[in-house]
Amino acid sequence: MRIALSTGGGDAPGLNAVIRAAVLSAVGRGWEVLGIKRGYAGLMGDDEVVPLTRESVRGIGHLGGTILRTTNRGNPFHYPYKQPDGSYLEVDRSDELIETARSLGIDAIITIGGDGSLAIAQKLCDKGMKIVGVPKTIDNDVSCTITTFGFDTAVNTAIDAIDKLHTTAESHDRVMVLEVMGRSTGFIALHSGVASSADVILIPEIPYNIEKVCEKVRQRDASGRYFSIVVVAEGAFPTGGEESVIGESMPGQAKRVGGIASVLAQQIHERTGKETRSLVLGHLQRGGMPTGYDRLLATRFGAAAVRAVADEKWAHMVALQSPHIVTVPIKDVLKEEKRVDPNHDMVLTARATGISFGD
Ligand code: F6P
Repeated sequence: MRIALSTGGGDAPGLNAVIRAAVLSAVGRGWEVLGIKRGYAGLMGDDEVVPLTRESVRGIGHLGGTILRTTNRGNPFHYPYKQPDGSYLEVDRSDELIETARSLGIDAIITIGGDGSLAIAQKLCDKGMKIVGVPKTIDNDVSCTITTFGFDTAVNTAIDAIDKLHTTAESHDRVMVLEVMGRSTGFIALHSGVASSADVILIPEIPYNIEKVCEKVRQRDASGRYFSIVVVAEGAFPTGGEESVIGESMPGQAKRVGGIASVLAQQIHERTGKETRSLVLGHLQRGGMPTGYDRLLATRFGAAAVRAVADEKWAHMVALQSPHIVTVPIKDVLKEEKRVDPNHDMVLTARATGISFGD
């Protein structure tokens, strides 16, 4: 048996722990393991395919990033090619990829990625490939699993930042607006904001009204709390408005949302007269060592993916459905996008503890 591993999409803390667990589990069964570099680029002649052994995964379980590298613009069905005039042409290279995998004697692939990578995996399975998925993303927006690895680390990074902002905000009587990642979901903002007692949390699932946000700031002032902390998900938008987009994305990439924190800080200043500052936490949320929770989840996912290959669970994804790791058809995962439920107890808890959603 010869399997191959691939990491695709934005990196997330815990990728190396999945790779390590999958390699050790597979080698323990007497299988050979290959690593496809940079998403599927290694199978399309744009990067390499390397052997993965016990030695190659030694001491990597606690490290951020991915030893296989990754890309979020490597969809083999829409591969971007730069033309002489500078424009890009999208080419379907899936047949080439499948042929290379066949010529390398790859029996099955474990793909570690988010919803984009899982959608690619499903399409490759529809063309006959044998693939098992592992859900990865700091955004936590993959359905059918309670959580993805990487999310807990990102939340802890945001909590650390908010704790630090509290002390400086209080010293200066300022409103601090922190923008966190999440694309079109508010999980990171919600979890970090509740855990670190933010005053306002703005998420895409609950459109906000700037007047309500300012009302909360004024109320706090009136009660002698002269500072406020606003945690805003990068994809949040006002009622009737649209998410803020940062310029152009590269061909083949999803649109880049963000920039909302500085807009909000200015609006809050204009309406309340308070001194405001904004910052974007950005890729710090994707870097660094995975938390203990993420390491453990990633390790369980890696070992479970190898069991799923042994059980021939093609086109399935390993998932956490506490307390168990299960497998679910990727088709089911792709059916609905996972979003924060505005009636979830986490939202109710936030409201009960005085946090405003600006609604
Ligand atoms: O999906 C993970 C994520 O970090 C999002 O939260 C964010 O919007 C996006 O990726 C950023 O992508 P890039 O690394 O291309 O800037």
